[in-house]
Amino acid sequence: MERENKVWWKNAVGYQIYIRSFSDSNNDGIGDLKGITNRLDYIKSLGVSFIWICPFYDSPMDDNGYDVRNYYKVDKSYGKMTDLEKLIREAHARDIKVVIDLVLNHTSDENEWFVKSEKKVEPFTDFYVWKDGKVVDGKLCPPNNWVSFFSGPAWKYSEKRKQYYLKIFSNKMPDINYENETAFSEMEKVIDYFGELNVDGFRVDAIAHIGKDLTFADAKNIKKTYKSFSNLPNTHEYLKRFNRAFARNNMVTMGELGGDPTKQDLIKYTTQKELDMIFSFEHTNIFTKNHMINRKALFKALKYKEGLSDSNGWSVLFWLNHDYPRLISKIRNVCDPKNAQICLAGLMYMLKGTPIIYNGEEIGMENYQFKKPSDFKDVNAKMIFENTDNIDEAFNNLKETTRDHSRTIMQWDGSKNAGFSEVKPWSYVNENYKKCNVEKAMKNKDSILNHYMQLLNIRNSVGQELIDAKYRLWMKGAVIGYSIDTISQIIEVVANLGEKEKKLKLNGETLYSNMNIADNLKPYQIVIAKRNK
Ligand code: GLC
Ligand code: CA
Repeated sequence: MERENKVWWKNAVGYQIYIRSFSDSNNDGIGDLKGITNRLDYIKSLGVSFIWICPFYDSPMDDNGYDVRNYYKVDKSYGKMTDLEKLIREAHARDIKVVIDLVLNHTSDENEWFVKSEKKVEPFTDFYVWKDGKVVDGKLCPPNNWVSFFSGPAWKYSEKRKQYYLKIFSNKMPDINYENETAFSEMEKVIDYFGELNVDGFRVDAIAHIGKDLTFADAKNIKKTYKSFSNLPNTHEYLKRFNRAFARNNMVTMGELGGDPTKQDLIKYTTQKELDMIFSFEHTNIFTKNHMINRKALFKALKYKEGLSDSNGWSVLFWLNHDYPRLISKIRNVCDPKNAQICLAGLMYMLKGTPIIYNGEEIGMENYQFKKPSDFKDVNAKMIFENTDNIDEAFNNLKETTRDHSRTIMQWDGSKNAGFSEVKPWSYVNENYKKCNVEKAMKNKDSILNHYMQLLNIRNSVGQELIDAKYRLWMKGAVIGYSIDTISQIIEVVANLGEKEKKLKLNGETLYSNMNIADNLKPYQIVIAKRNK
């Protein structure tokens, strides 16, 4: 236990980079590896100790790189393997660790493993999940009723092989069959390869889904067919095997656990030595339809997350990633969205666990105004339109929820294309970039950026003590807070999430406040104080 708590990642702050939208070093409109290397000093200045880079592998970009064609090659739009090596060296020289995305659930249909599998070339014949179709009323239909996360059937027919392959995401992302030995050994080679390159760890993509219900029976509840490929016992079995490869390379893992896992499921992943850290998503529904904060749901989510970091589990603390709209837009109808975001950040990132900031969050980047269905770039949105009869309804929904919001161009300064590139970027630049950008935020003491830096600075200064601390979370009306009982001190975090002033009673030394301290907590004021024991 003692040794376990000395691991670097329990006292670390991460920064997630959506490479395509982050920084373009060669002016082709696409972010790249060198672009990230160029920005390492900025990243370091935030108080970050590791980065997580979204996939940069060779890919036809059906899902912007989550569809991997070749794991051993950097996509030509992102650079070369030597650029990755340089990025790792430069990051390490600044004491920043490097975590990369590892996609184990599926590959691209252009991956040579799939090309061979489709032609039944051994040993790849059963590398993917192939099944015969069912004939219903004389018509060939998919093997069962499972539905893709991106909408429509979870199966696609291959004319070549005259069989269906499972694809729980896009049509071009066939699922791997881990009942197949070759699938394991090929993926273990991938893990070893990046271990050799000195990569410090993996964010393991869509890992809850690698095990399928091997009876392939119809799901009873058509709305929840994902239960047939989420958090099943075989997922845990496969992960135990992968864990040996992670461990021999001394790599940390953070697993994305979608598909409605129970708390018990989540705890299993870490206590059974399968993954080090878990991403769970209960906090993504704390926002009301009216773009306010549902305080009760927030309190519950914070408590849940904190609880996951006990009993040998460890939770990633995050508000955003590349699959969700921007935080400040989710709470745009509160009286003070900026300070409300700072409150949410403070409450989340002082919990027990490892905070990860998503690029652009730290300057309060906002959602983009999509005007028509053809504006969307994301394959998920495209599939939703393909599978609906009600385009208007789908559009109104996607306007708020599309993953494209999080993938707009990083806003560095007020120059053309927000300082990202000299040419027109592949995605949209939010029209607010002249007001909302890194350069401007750096100069403004009261910017979200400066508040994040202060919060992360406090977090870093007490991080080691938080690992073994006892947390007590409480809620009184609109005020949510917690006390952190560490070995040497008591730290109090208190935030007023209401729109009226509230009495403030805090003793000890104030470490941080986003507004002047008075007798009352102002709306969306957060205070962190400490006293010695
Ligand atoms: C994960 C990623 C998402 C991707 C999907 C399929 O959920 O976060 O962006 O589309 O897996 O790889
Ligand atoms: Ca580029």
